[in-house]
Formats: sequence, structure tokens, C-alpha cells
Amino acid sequence: MQLPANLQIKINELYLSLNKKDLVTTQQNLTSKYKTSSGQSKSLIGSKQDSILYAISRMPATYAVIFTLVSDLIKQGALQNVRSVTDVGSGTGAGYFALKEIDETLDIKLVEKDKFMIETFLKLANENVSVDKLDLIKDKLSFNSDLIMSSFVLSEMTEEDRIKTFKKLLNETKKYLLLIDTGTPKTYEQMMKLKSVAYEQGYKVIAPCAGEKCLLKNDYCQFYARVERSALHKLAKGGKLSYEDEKYFYLLFAKSNTQNSGKRVIRRPIINSNEIKLKFCTNDGVEETLFTKKDKENFKRARKAKINELF
Ligand SMILES: C[S@@+](CC[C@H](N)C(=O)[O-])C[C@H]1O[C@@H](n2cnc3c(N)ncnc32)[C@H](O)[C@@H]1O
Repeated sequence: MQLPANLQIKINELYLSLNKKDLVTTQQNLTSKYKTSSGQSKSLIGSKQDSILYAISRMPATYAVIFTLVSDLIKQGALQNVRSVTDVGSGTGAGYFALKEIDETLDIKLVEKDKFMIETFLKLANENVSVDKLDLIKDKLSFNSDLIMSSFVLSEMTEEDRIKTFKKLLNETKKYLLLIDTGTPKTYEQMMKLKSVAYEQGYKVIAPCAGEKCLLKNDYCQFYARVERSALHKLAKGGKLSYEDEKYFYLLFAKSNTQNSGKRVIRRPIINSNEIKLKFCTNDGVEETLFTKKDKENFKRARKAKINELF
């Protein structure tokens, strides 16, 4: 998965506009801020340069995650009849561009608090779009969309602010609320707390979990999207590989009378020449199944299985 060519060209143009003198230090400071100051409800972007570096180094991955995940959820029927979306904490527009690539007729509203992120997004967007400058924690929210989406936002907040914001987002949810965040044990734990808040408020998770309680023992759930790295991406982030796997976790919420999606592959398939091991989240708990060549039909099916697919 790559960014659309016209978007990559615009990002390259923004890169050319940067003062290269302090670029390496600015990138290092930004990376270190994301590592040390996330989870404190602090602004991590402090300048126009930071927001452009975010677009160069992080947006290809967040775009790939949103594009892959939302396309899959639509195919699986977990997301149905979505015509309008509000993307909260929209940053430099990964969600906007990914959703427009999926369906250019979608009505997409953007909400973001950081002026540098908004400015950079507006430089990247061809169309005449606007962003509502709002703080999700402090401001009153009023959305009227089929889907509210938040990607890589809530883990930046303190626990108190995250729960408060999540309740506000649930309150605004007409059909679906999709939270996407980093694929780490810490974020997984945060998301499980939000999951229990949702059940208390009359909402349920319809993907990826099959049930209310997570039955994984001493483990966590994580998905990934493969991102091809452009020359500029490699330059900004270092490393030689032509791709990276961006790990993430997500929860899709809906009103409690909505159907769960079903039996889902929750780990990268383990494939050997004669056997394939798949791990599933099902209504009856977590299952690990070994498929062998003896069972031809299911072996063939298992060979095609991908993480986050329904089986
Ligand atoms: C890591 S970036 C993610 C941007 C984009 N969603 C993506 O996936 O690439 C987090 C974004 O959330 C925004 N954000 C964090 N806290 C916010 C708040 N309280 N209100 C609005 N936006 C917020 C930040 O300014 C930043 O643009």
C-alpha cells in the first residue's frame, strides 16, 4: 500500500519547502516527543516543520492502516450504508485521503485542534475542504455522521481525558464509532477499558472482538497493514527495507442491538509446508486451529486466510 501519487507529489513539494539545516534534529525531537510525552494530553506538534515531518514519516502508515481496515470492514459487512464520516483528530488528513480513495462520494467532516496540522492538511488537499478547529476534550461536540472515526488520537491523552472524550464521542454516535490506535500492549489495555465503558453505556463492539469479555490470556491483540516506503519516507525514517508493517489495534462500536461480525483471524497465520496454524476470536472464545493437508478443502481456505479476515 502506498499513498496516492498526487498526494505523495504534494508531500514531496512540502519537503522541498523545508529548511534542511535542522531537519534531522527536528525529526529526532519529534520522534522522541511521541515516545516520551504521549499519553499526557500534550500537543506533540510544535511547528509547521513538525506537521510536515508528520506527513512525511507517519502519514503513509496511518493512511495504509485506515485504507486497509475500513475497506475490510465494508467488505465484511461490519460497516453498512456509511455515507457520512467525521474524522476526529484528523491531523494531516490520512483518514480523509484514505476514505476518499475508498469512496470519493463520502461526505467527510474533519475535526482537529492543532493549527499546524490543519495548515499542512489544507496544503495537501486539492478540494475545497475545511476543518473544524475544536479540542475534543474541552469543546462541545455536535456531529451528525454515520461513522465517527478517530485514528491514533486517544492514546495521546491522559486516562481521564481519554475516557471523557470517548464518552463524548459515544454520545455523538448515530451508527458507528471506529477507534484505531497503535498496536502495543499498553494501547490494547487502554482500548479494553474503553470497551467496558461502551458496554456500560449501551454500545457494543462489533469488530474485531466476538464477545464482551476478551478471552486472551497473558496476550494482546494486534493487526498490521503493510506500507511501501517511498524514497522520502526512507530518508526521513532511515532503514533500508522497502516496506514496513504498521501494527495497530482497533475497536468498532455500534448500538448494542447490532450483530457482531463473527469468527475472525486475530494473528498472522503461521504457515509451514504441511500445516497452517490460525488463531481465531469466536463467540465461544479464542481458538487455535491446525489445518493439515489431510483436510484439503479447509487447508486451501486456511492458506488464503489473512489477519483480520472472517473465516
Ligand atoms: C498522531 S496524530 C493522528 C492524525 C491522524 N488521525 C492520522 O491517523 O494520521 C494525532 C492527532 O490528534 C490531534 N489531537 C490530539 N488531541 C486532540 C484533541 N483534544 N482535540 C482535537 N484533536 C486532537 C493531534 O493534534 C494530532 O493531529
